[in-house]
This record gives sequence, structure tokens and C-alpha cells, in this order.
Amino acid sequence: EKGGYDYFMLKEIAEQPKAVADTLLGRIDGSGRLTLDEVRIPDAVLREADKIVIIACGTAFHAGLIAKYAIEHWTRIPCEVELASEFRYRDPILGQRTLVIAISQSGETMDTLMALRHAREQGAKVLAVCNTNGSTIPRESDAVLYTHAGPEVAVASTKAFLTQLVACYLLALYLGQVRGTKWGDEIHAVVRELARIGDEVERVLETMEPVRALARSLAHKDTVLFLGRHVGYPVALEGALKLKELAYMHAEGFAAGELKHGPIALIEEDLPVVVVVPSPKGRSVLHDKIVSNIQEIRARGARTIVIAEEGDEAVVPYADHLVRIPATPTLLQPLVSTVPLQVFACELATARGNEVDQPRNLAKSVTVE
Ligand code: M6R
Repeated sequence: EKGGYDYFMLKEIAEQPKAVADTLLGRIDGSGRLTLDEVRIPDAVLREADKIVIIACGTAFHAGLIAKYAIEHWTRIPCEVELASEFRYRDPILGQRTLVIAISQSGETMDTLMALRHAREQGAKVLAVCNTNGSTIPRESDAVLYTHAGPEVAVASTKAFLTQLVACYLLALYLGQVRGTKWGDEIHAVVRELARIGDEVERVLETMEPVRALARSLAHKDTVLFLGRHVGYPVALEGALKLKELAYMHAEGFAAGELKHGPIALIEEDLPVVVVVPSPKGRSVLHDKIVSNIQEIRARGARTIVIAEEGDEAVVPYADHLVRIPATPTLLQPLVSTVPLQVFACELATARGNEVDQPRNLAKSVTVE
């Protein structure tokens, strides 16, 4: 059942190109237009929406954080992202024109379910992004956009995360299409890239051996930090979460711009710091900023593990370890930059003798508070 892999997690990491392709299947037509038949919420309601609120837990929350960048950029609808466990006990401001997106692999997470009930009671429309057919969260939502990752068995979420991203991108692009916002060359280029991104994920998977070797060499470490900017920031959070749950290591993700506001005090000799570097093209301001951040932490002794696009030469002098990922449009980069972090955490867990598929104290589906 593990298809020749030692762990379900390894199998599920390897299945990501297919999971991504399956989630795209039938949703982009030949001319680059999107059809999301399952989104039963009438286009008129989507056109009227004046606010989007994303609720989720754990890895799904990280997908939501990334979705915010895409939604606001492509649709110009203000978007908030909140942990379901916080949202459900707050008094949020929602109305008939609020669209709530509940993201959940299992469709059974108690906090997310309670948060969506809380939202519907106040008249908001709820759309679920879910991987499990017929589970409670889609059943209680106004509409559902299924991710087609197939069953995810390992407690640590991998392929479900990538497909949650794909579903959120599709949804954001669909909202843009329905509302007629920014429906121009940029969007067409993104849709084209998205349609073939599974192949890029495959290419990343083919080059992971040095990442595994690096992970094994760090098995004795106590702490690993992760830095990113823009969509790379939630990717850093996700890399840290994977390491916590699998390797039981102290791992934290930071927005690189926050370094000087505290985290830089943690930097000491030979501390591994993973840095997710944005594309050097287009958003060069961000890229320059992160190169300075890498210089700053390295000058203080950090061992830098740099994840950067192919052809990005500016980072080379400051990278103790360099992991290459294919060039993608900025907003889509998490689909490729997350993969090395998953492999890294899985290998570290194995090297530390941990149970990869069933980490201690965790359950696949959190149906209690
Ligand atoms: O089934 P859900 O997507 O609602 O689950 C949410 C979290 O419990 C889940 O993503 C958790 O954080 C994973 N173990 C992360 O790998």
C-alpha cells in the first residue's frame, strides 16, 4: 500500500505532481478560462463580495496565508486569514457580502467546522476547499471546491497542501474572471504557468538528494530557523511546522523583514537558517532585501541554506548550501519552494529515528479541541 516507499509521507511527496495536475484537471479550458462548476455560489454573489475571510488550522492555514497574496493581487478584494480556533471565539465582522473560505484536508477539523458555523450564523457565504468527499465541512458549506490529492495518510500534510494552493489560485483567478479585474496578460501568463506547474514540481523532486544529505548532516542540531518574504513567509512557517511535527526540533519561521525586530538575536555560530528567496525577476525590490538579510545573518555566523531560483546568481556568495528551484511567477513559487522543505523534514525525522507517518502526540484529523 506504500507503493514501494518506506513511509506514506515519501509516497505522498512523490505523488505531488499528479495531485497538482488532478486538481487542475477540467478547470482550465484551452483558451485559459476557468470553469469551477462545483462552486454553486452564483456569479452575482461572487461579483458582489466585498471581503474574503479564510479560516483554517495548521498547514491549511499556511495555504490560506499564501492565498491572501494571490486573492488581493488578482481580485482587489480585501482578504483576511485567521486561525479557525481564534476566529470561532471572536466576534468577527461579517455580512451577506462576506465570502468565507474554509480550508481543510480532512473536512472534519473541529475548530474549522465550528468557525464555519459561526460565519454562516452571521449570514456569510462559506466555500470549503477540501480533500475529502462528503465530509462534514463541505456538507455544511454553501459550496465546495475539492482538491484532488487522493487520500493522505501521513499525519504531516504534503500533497494536500500543494493542492490547497492550487485550489486557492484557481479560486482567486476565477473571482478575477467573474469580476473582470486584472484580466489581462499577467493573468494569462499565470494561468499558463499554473497549467504546467506539475512538471516543475516533478523537476524539483528529481534533485532532492543533496537536500536529504544535508538533512542527515544536521540531525544533531537543536534548532533550525526559516526566513521568507511575501509568499515565502508562509512557506517558511510551513517548513518550520513540518520540522516540529516530524523531527521534534525547535523550528521557527519568520518574515525576513522582522529580523531586526527580535529574531536576529537568535543567530549564533553554525545555526542552520533556511531562506526562501523570491524570484529575482519582476519583484527585484524583495529579492534585494532578502539578499541583504542573508548577508546579515551570515555575518553573525548562521549556516545559510538558500532556496533560490535557477539562474539567481546574486545569492551564490552567501549560500553555504544552495537548493535550486525552477523559475515561476512570484505568486506560484510556494508550489515549488515547499517541496525541498518537506523532503528536508522527512529526512531529518528518519535520521533522528522518529516515526515519520505517525509523529508522537499528533492525530491525522483533529476532531476535538
Ligand atoms: O484536515 P485539516 O486540513 O483541517 O487539518 C488541519 C491541520 O490539523 C493539519 O494541517 C496539521 O497541521 C498537519 N498535521 C500539518 O502537517
